[in-house]
Amino acid sequence: MPHRIGIVGASGYGGAELLRLIAGHPELEVATVAAHSQAGMPIAALFPNLPGDRRFDAVDPDELATLDLVFLATPHGPALELGATLADAGVRTVDLSAAFRLDADGFRTWYGEEHPRPDLAPAVYGVPEFNRAEVAGATLVANPGCYVVTALLGLVPLSGLIEPGTVIVDGKSGTTGAGRAMKDTLHASHVGGSIGAYGAPTHRHTGEIERYLGVHGTDLGPISFTPHLLPVPRGLLITAYGQLADDVYADDVQAALVDAYADEPFVEVLPPGTFPVTKAVVGSNACHVSALVDPRTRRVVVTSVTDNLGKGAAGSALQNANLLLGLPETLALPTVGVYP
Ligand SMILES: NC(=O)c1ccc[n+]([C@@H]2O[C@H](COP(=O)([O-])OP(=O)(O)OC[C@H]3O[C@@H](n4cnc5c(N)ncnc54)[C@H](OP(=O)(O)O)[C@@H]3O)[C@@H](O)[C@H]2O)c1
Repeated sequence: MPHRIGIVGASGYGGAELLRLIAGHPELEVATVAAHSQAGMPIAALFPNLPGDRRFDAVDPDELATLDLVFLATPHGPALELGATLADAGVRTVDLSAAFRLDADGFRTWYGEEHPRPDLAPAVYGVPEFNRAEVAGATLVANPGCYVVTALLGLVPLSGLIEPGTVIVDGKSGTTGAGRAMKDTLHASHVGGSIGAYGAPTHRHTGEIERYLGVHGTDLGPISFTPHLLPVPRGLLITAYGQLADDVYADDVQAALVDAYADEPFVEVLPPGTFPVTKAVVGSNACHVSALVDPRTRRVVVTSVTDNLGKGAAGSALQNANLLLGLPETLALPTVGVYP
């Protein structure tokens, strides 16, 4: 018997990527594909890669409560409400939004709102490479932010080798990172052939990177984070810099990454001096990581890439869901990207 799952926010980019991945999943049956303003619309009218007659459903919390697992791929507002309802009903839930990633203080600081359910915040923060046993035993999993998971996979193994207070994280994301809704700054005529920064120094992912570097690695104090918008649909690149602690050298850096990911199916550590590219991971759940040490400045430079809709969103969410349901973690998750 397949597990019956639901996707709320299936008319968005993250939800539709879940539908694409789950189309190849042998153990999941999609019982509900819920949308908000697009309820009733044929799925194929928005996503030509998902042909057929099926239409988006309306959100029905009572029906969701009967399912084996629910993915929430909505903005954090609706997810706060639905996530709490489903957690109270004991339904396993993976929330792709920021609703349950931070504690109530962090949520107030970075989102400017009082958390309505501080008892659920933070939920189990799902990066299986660091806490797969905890994810497997959870009810509510907070899926990480796209910039955050890509930064953490590069930085966590190195965090004990870096001087606190010296970390700078530069992020670049494809346009799907901003969701499906149209904005002036997402027009092809604005984004095409151009690149620009946004959001610094208070982008909401800053606090999430700081918090989970401390939880899964070493607390490195405040970081500086600047995101940029790339003129490509998918792909996310992090370049992070940190001052090396005394008596730490290039071999220690490479050994820390190789040791951390030796048995990880989705994280590939590249040789020093080989720079990862987004195109190598687009369409997959992979993250490629590479680090080098600049002997002149004694700074480590770590670069990591993901597909923002893959390991950055739906891929991580499905990896977490496989764990929650006791299934092999890698089911229906490609490790190899679409290239060229
Ligand atoms: N895009 C990424 O790369 C990425 C990466 C990591 C995390 N995330 C997070 O994942 C979540 C979804 O992102 P996205 O990029 O897929 O967004 P999106 O393309 O803008 O889609 C948002 C979805 O939420 C639905 N929705 C909006 N208001 C709702 C409400 N009140 N009740 C129920 N559903 C509602 C929308 O339905 P209608 O279209 O039918 O109105 C749509 O299906 C966000 O929290 C985002 O921060 C996204």
